[in-house]
Parts: sequence; C-alpha cells; structure tokens
Amino acid sequence: MKTYAAYLQLVEQALPGALDGLGEIPSPLRDAMQYSLQAGGKRLRPVLLLAAADLLEGSVQEALPFACALEMIHTYSLIHDDLPAMDDDDLRRGRPACHKAFGEAVAILAGDGLLSAAAEVMLNAAAGMDSLRGTMAARAILRRAGVCGMVAGQTVDVTMEGTEPTAERVTYIHRHKTADLLTAPLEAAAWLAGADPAQREALLAYGASVGLAFQMADDLLDVEGDMAQLGKKTGLDATKGKLSWVALRGVEGTREDLLRETARAKAAISTLNKDVTFFTSLADELTTRWR
Ligand code: IPE
Ligand code: IPE
Ligand code: MG
Ligand code: MG
Ligand code: MG
Repeated sequence: MKTYAAYLQLVEQALPGALDGLGEIPSPLRDAMQYSLQAGGKRLRPVLLLAAADLLEGSVQEALPFACALEMIHTYSLIHDDLPAMDDDDLRRGRPACHKAFGEAVAILAGDGLLSAAAEVMLNAAAGMDSLRGTMAARAILRRAGVCGMVAGQTVDVTMEGTEPTAERVTYIHRHKTADLLTAPLEAAAWLAGADPAQREALLAYGASVGLAFQMADDLLDVEGDMAQLGKKTGLDATKGKLSWVALRGVEGTREDLLRETARAKAAISTLNKDVTFFTSLADELTTRWR
C-alpha cells in the first residue's frame, strides 16, 4: 500500500490528460470542464478507488481511468449543486463556482460534459480489457451516480428544503447524495481486482459508513467550518432550510453519530484478513477534517 499523498499524485498526474483521447472539445466547454476539474479538491473518491484496488492486489494502473472518471462525475455533481436553481453557491474549491466564471448555460453543459466524458473514458478502458471486470466497474460507478444513487439523493435534498428533517428523509438524502458516490470507488475496485463476496461486502460496508460520516462532517463544517480553509461558503444549510444531519440531530448529536459511523466503517474493513491501516486511519482523519 502507498500513502494518501502517493495515490493523490497518481490521480493528479492522470487527470489533466483524461479528456485527451475523446477528440476536439470546443471552448468554452473544455475550459469550463478543466476549470472545475483542476481546481483542486481532496480527490478522496479516486484515491479510495486506487487504494482499494491496491489492497486487493489489483492493478493500480488499470484502475486509473476509472478513478479519473469518478472524479469527473463528482466534479459534475459539484458544478450542478452550486447552480442558482440548486444550492445557489458562488464559491467552490476556493474559486468562483463554474457558473460564476463561465455563465449558467456553459456550467450546465460542463456538468453534462463531465458526466458523459466519464462514461466514455470508463467504457474505452473496459473495451481494452480481457474480461467484463471493467464493464462491471463502470456499471457500478454509473449506477451509484445515477437515478437511484447520487441524483436521487440530490433530488430529495433540493425538493424537501424547509420541510421537517425526519430521520428517514435525512438518512435517505445522505445515503444517496454522498455515501453512494463514496461507495462507488470501493465497488469498482472490487470488480476490477476480482474481490470475493466477503471482501466485496466488507468494502461496500466501509464505503457506506464512511460516506455517511463524510456528509455528517460536511454538515458540521457548514456550521463550524472556516470559509477560507474550506474553499466554499458556510452557513448556507440553515439559510436554505436543508435537511442536514445538524438539522436532525444538532451539533453534538451529529458529532456522536459521526464517531459511531466511523467506528462501523473501521469494524467493517477490519474483517478483511489484510493490513487495512490505510483505510482505518483515513476514516479517523475524516472525523477531524477541516476541508
Ligand atoms: C463535497 O465533496 C460534496 C460532498 C459530497 C460533501 P468533497 O468534500 O469531497 O469536495 P472536494 O472534492 O474535496 O472539493
Ligand atoms: C452535496 O452536498 C452533495 C453532492 C452530491 C454534490 P452539499 O450541497 O452539502 O455539498 P457542498 O456543501 O455544497 O459541498
Ligand atoms: Mg447540495
Ligand atoms: Mg451545496
Ligand atoms: Mg454541504
């Protein structure tokens, strides 16, 4: 296993060229896609994909296009999330949101472009493989990003603003808008590296719990975080009447749930008969993240 920084470096090296094989993308579409993609970000989802492939002794090189595609999908979700019709946010990754820099029409299209390019990148990689592993990995990522996954969660998030934050609603939103996209890299890696059923189950359970914990931390940071460090505005969830975990459980309750969910993630991954320090440490670090 490598360090987070080492997987991150692999992602940062591969990402700028990930669109290269697709042909001539007209400006300003290409510029807007690259603007948001290259704005930094923690790259948590692609790093998880590479680390999980590595853990299962799969090929990190072979996993790279899937990791880049997942970051493209995540970036598209952020561009659309910030649009005036959705969260109406104008700061992202320390820069003006895509629609502030390129206008709403191009930002919508940049999101569309990143999603469709991601599918193309994954299917190009899958087509070059000797089995259906790549196809199954692509399917897992697209499914978790899709109409029963992230898009479903985002739909409930934006249409239920201002309503009663019941446990059922808030859990649905967090599970789908965020945890699905954090489980996607683990599921994709399980396909790519040929995980057995027990390994697959452990990875998916880790992803689901880390994903839920990750959005709890995001909701806490919206209340307690620092805008300059986060690179995005704070305080918007309460203003918009979002069904956040803090709205459901308060700050203290959210902190408790975050620790409980992190413990679940660590327990799940620890059932693997492997050195999972990378994954347990990462889960712990996410509980005290400041960005
Ligand atoms: C932000 O995701 C959106 C959520 C799901 C909370 P990240 O916190 O991973 O954002 P970046 O990629 O580091 O900018
Ligand atoms: C976003 O949740 C989840 C996505 C699918 C983009 P938020 O709306 O809380 O994310 P931030 O706080 O704007 O990054
Ligand atoms: Mg949102
Ligand atoms: Mg938002
Ligand atoms: Mg948020």
